[in-house]
Amino acid sequence: MHFNMQFLLLLPIILNIINISTAWRTFLRGRSKYGNLGEPILSSKTYVLPEEQWFTQYLDHFNPTDARVWKQKYFVNSNFYKPNGPIFLMIGAEGIANAKWMVEGQWIEYAKEFGAMCFYLEHRYYGKSHPTPDLSVKNLIYLSSQQALADLAYFIQNINIGYKFSNETKWIVFGGSYGGSLAAWMRAKYPHLVHGAVSTSGPLLAQIDFQEYFVVVANALKDYSQKCIDTVAEAYRELNILLHHVAGQQKIEKRFKLCDPIDPGHTKRMDISNLYETLASNFAGIVQYNKDNRQSSQTANITIETVCDILVDEKIGIPIDRLAYISNMMLNTTKEKCLDYRYGKMIRELRNITWTSEQAEGGRQWMYQTCTEFGFYQTSTAKPNLFSDTFPVKFFIQQCIDIFGPRYDIDLLKSGVTRTNILYGALNLQVTNVVFVHGSVDPWHVLGITTSSNTQAPAIYINGTAHCADMYPSSENDMPQLKEARIQIKDLIKQWLKSS
Ligand SMILES: *[C@@H]1O[C@H](CO)[C@@H](O)[C@H](O)[C@H]1NC(C)=O
Ligand SMILES: *[C@@H]1O[C@H](CO)[C@@H](O)[C@H](O)[C@H]1NC(C)=O
Ligand SMILES: *[C@@H]1O[C@H](CO)[C@@H](O)[C@H](O)[C@H]1NC(C)=O
Ligand SMILES: *[C@@H]1O[C@H](CO)[C@@H](O)[C@H](O)[C@H]1NC(C)=O
Ligand SMILES: *[C@@H]1O[C@H](CO)[C@@H](O)[C@H](O)[C@H]1NC(C)=O
Repeated sequence: MHFNMQFLLLLPIILNIINISTAWRTFLRGRSKYGNLGEPILSSKTYVLPEEQWFTQYLDHFNPTDARVWKQKYFVNSNFYKPNGPIFLMIGAEGIANAKWMVEGQWIEYAKEFGAMCFYLEHRYYGKSHPTPDLSVKNLIYLSSQQALADLAYFIQNINIGYKFSNETKWIVFGGSYGGSLAAWMRAKYPHLVHGAVSTSGPLLAQIDFQEYFVVVANALKDYSQKCIDTVAEAYRELNILLHHVAGQQKIEKRFKLCDPIDPGHTKRMDISNLYETLASNFAGIVQYNKDNRQSSQTANITIETVCDILVDEKIGIPIDRLAYISNMMLNTTKEKCLDYRYGKMIRELRNITWTSEQAEGGRQWMYQTCTEFGFYQTSTAKPNLFSDTFPVKFFIQQCIDIFGPRYDIDLLKSGVTRTNILYGALNLQVTNVVFVHGSVDPWHVLGITTSSNTQAPAIYINGTAHCADMYPSSENDMPQLKEARIQIKDLIKQWLKSS
């Protein structure tokens, strides 16, 4: 099977990643196998990628009587290191830690500049870092951001000892998306181990109903033209009408190349919500990753302009035909034969507890974290209803219940989200030597810190860039404000390294 999607959406529904027959949807709704941060484009230089290393890690950092350990994957690159230089640590997030980040990406440029040694620690339960024999609910209790932060702390402590770094050695951590949240939290929780943090596109406020996500998406389409966004709303209205009678259902099956026919009794409401959400995620993926420098041979050229050009093109047909055109274009791009929208199938796959290659990509694990710690559900609820409010919070909570069991209901998630915000301080995070970086086009900026009056923890809000844009390798086409942001970050790191 091929998960070629280089699109990593920290979207709550990860179904696609695990679904062999629906690789195109990974582009849309799932985070891909690398989590939310894409792969950097490798320049034409030939690189030797570093080998995987293994660190012996505790299973449960919060129970001193539990001595169980497991092997956590990491990478090291000391090619740029100068004696007494700083140590840079890329924080693995909800996906496979990809060795390409050890040779390319903006943090590597900083490492060259400052003579840093670079480490990259994969997040527990993702990629090859398997703390438990399987992903059963009883084993997933060791999957949390708190455990992940403690993993990082033990890692730093042990590397300091193993490499005999002096006690003056400064660690700077980097991370994007959920990894960006972890970077900021790492500095807050372990300031004696981490001297500074570059926190990119990190959501810091846990929130169950992340309805603002699609507001940002809608605004990005509206910035192109009012007609673009109006067409989306109209297409959804048409879809709604067609779904209510048999002839309309058949038309949709054909136009959207559905893998399975629509249940004419209209009893399978979850299937329909899933269909709406899948189509909406097309726009989410395109906006969240608009024109960044990820490696994405198949889909890099599909931008907000591409889809809006299609949406306003009356030659293609009425609005729903244009929506179908975009959906089919995505199917073609990822060589999918049909659009899989079946809820039951998705749930079956997310219930699978084995460490298969699909699970290594993290669908079930990230779902677990959203059901217990973060929420982050990108619902259709915001007014005006662009998508006719067809995938509200209860659609996502039902998934938690169907995947993990009846205990994983709204009450459990409410207390989980409150807990997360108490433990970390949400948007009132009090830190120094942290820079929060966000792009205005990236919907995730809504849950992060985009303005700050604290000179010790400034925010850089880049007008016009997408998710994690500052982390990818630079290109001459980058917007001047992105180039400027990279320089500001470098200057901040320089300041931190000078300070004690
Ligand atoms: C580092 O170790 C030296 C010698 O043991 C000690 O004098 C110094 O205070 C230590 N510095 C820090 C920052 O702990
Ligand atoms: C994107 O590029 C591929 C090949 O490079 C091409 O086949 C495809 O038509 C392009 N798509 C768009 C929307 O420009
Ligand atoms: C998708 O591929 C099919 C079959 O090759 C082709 O007929 C159709 O025009 C393509 N659609 C789009 C939107 O690219
Ligand atoms: C879980 O997934 C693996 C690999 O795809 C498969 O072999 C196994 O049968 C699945 N288990 C269940 C219970 O579906
Ligand atoms: C952001 O960029 C857009 C277009 O490039 C411009 O119209 C807008 O005024 C900018 N906003 C800010 C706050 O600078």
